Amino acid sequence: MVSRCSKLSPESESVFTDSNSACALSVLRLAALYFMTRLPLGPKSRYPGRVFLKFRQDPIDFLEKAAAQFGDVVHWKMGGQNVFLINDPNLIRDVLVTQDKKFEKQMEASRTLLGLGLTVSNGELHQRQRRSIQPGFYRDRIAKFAEVMVECAARARNRWEENATLDIKNEMERIALRVVGETLFGVDLESHADVISRAMATAIGSPSNMMMPMLKWIDKLPLKGVRAAKAGRAVLHAVVDQVIRERKQSPGQTDDLLSGLLFADDQNNGASEQQVHDEVMNLLIAGYETTANAMSWTWFLLSQHPKVEDRLHQELDKVVGDQSLTMADFEALRLTQNVVRESLRLCPPLWIIWRRTLEDYPLNGCVAPAGSLVLMCQYLTHRDKRYFPEPLRFNPDRWTEEFREHLPKFAYFPFGGGSRQCIGDRFGFMEAVLVVATIAQKWKLRLAAGHPVVPAPLFTLRPKSGLRMIAIRR
Ligand code: HEM
Repeated sequence: MVSRCSKLSPESESVFTDSNSACALSVLRLAALYFMTRLPLGPKSRYPGRVFLKFRQDPIDFLEKAAAQFGDVVHWKMGGQNVFLINDPNLIRDVLVTQDKKFEKQMEASRTLLGLGLTVSNGELHQRQRRSIQPGFYRDRIAKFAEVMVECAARARNRWEENATLDIKNEMERIALRVVGETLFGVDLESHADVISRAMATAIGSPSNMMMPMLKWIDKLPLKGVRAAKAGRAVLHAVVDQVIRERKQSPGQTDDLLSGLLFADDQNNGASEQQVHDEVMNLLIAGYETTANAMSWTWFLLSQHPKVEDRLHQELDKVVGDQSLTMADFEALRLTQNVVRESLRLCPPLWIIWRRTLEDYPLNGCVAPAGSLVLMCQYLTHRDKRYFPEPLRFNPDRWTEEFREHLPKFAYFPFGGGSRQCIGDRFGFMEAVLVVATIAQKWKLRLAAGHPVVPAPLFTLRPKSGLRMIAIRR
């Protein structure tokens, strides 16, 4: 584990000092500062707000440089708040699992969209919500969703034409929305796909916006971006209201998650109308964009690695042939599972998560004062060569039993962990495997010539300009 504790680092134009000047601090001075302040080293600037702007401009570059220069625990200030980046699997495990009671989520800036739903609530309320929603994601229940996932993918693949140029990101979003709509809410969400996709682009913003409570005040300013975000949120709220209305008008036929929430409401014994609205919004947003991005990145990576793709086709031919995939096939598709696993490593849809300390928290010889923000970045840890040899290589074969056994648990955490582990982890993983497999039974996808693929680290890690790919019949 690497970290350097001190409060001061020499200031310069760049928020990153060069390592020579950092090393130039005398050992004595370092030791004195260490004991005085108990804050790790990190990027600093004499200009107020500059570090935040750098982080906001290109967060992945900022975090990569911070970890490379300052080690596994990095400190800086943002909006008056102490911020710590931790890049060590054991420290991440402590925050998410063993010491999780000392932390809470800091999502105040997202309340206007997510209300007090499962992804943002804390404490007792979060525990209650988790207990009421969890049964909808039990293993045997998820297994029943396999059929819907395969059917939604088959419907898309049957629409495609030879040599058509498709926006694969958009196609995957449509599938993911249909799956979430049918399985959890018993409604058709695909017909709202374009509206939802456009609204999402403005409504939710980037993690740097979501994690800063002070940014909720920006909402009051007469800015173009603020107006667009409000309009996006209004559209999403209207879609959720419609979903609930539709479901209320046709009660009784299904036992999906939404019926469970509404039924509890009818009995006056569970969620209020507002809470039902919030939960639907939270599940919709958490459940479709993440999975759609996982599938989109998988297509991109397969298109760049035709040998892996050939082997995936061989596996499919051997295990399923032309038949419709079943739950049993999902278990048997070992390579396809590893392809998705490796895609979630290199391109984790939720690429960063964060918590706020509820009390002073010891961090690797330093102390994070109560009220600090602690960042854990999957994108960074998943590409760390200490845990993943040749970290930038797309290599699904690395996921042997032995490799998984020896990998520190929180070196790979695409679904987070502990009491706030993704409630849809199995759902999302199974969906990605079944959808990719169903489409790959019939199609190969190749990147359209000249189409730039640039990852945009927004709420999810998504291809900035979509993913234009050509469909080629197998
Ligand atoms: C590949 C797909 C997915 C990925 C990579 C993913 C990732 C994550 C991660 C990293 C978290 C933890 C956030 C944190 O600790 O701050 C999370 C939480 C959550 N996810 Fe997912 N997710 C996926 C699919 C889904 C699906 C399909 C659903 C629902 C249908 C879902 C619903 C949720 C919810 C409700 C939470 C909040 C849980 C809580 O705080 O108790 N996710 N997800």
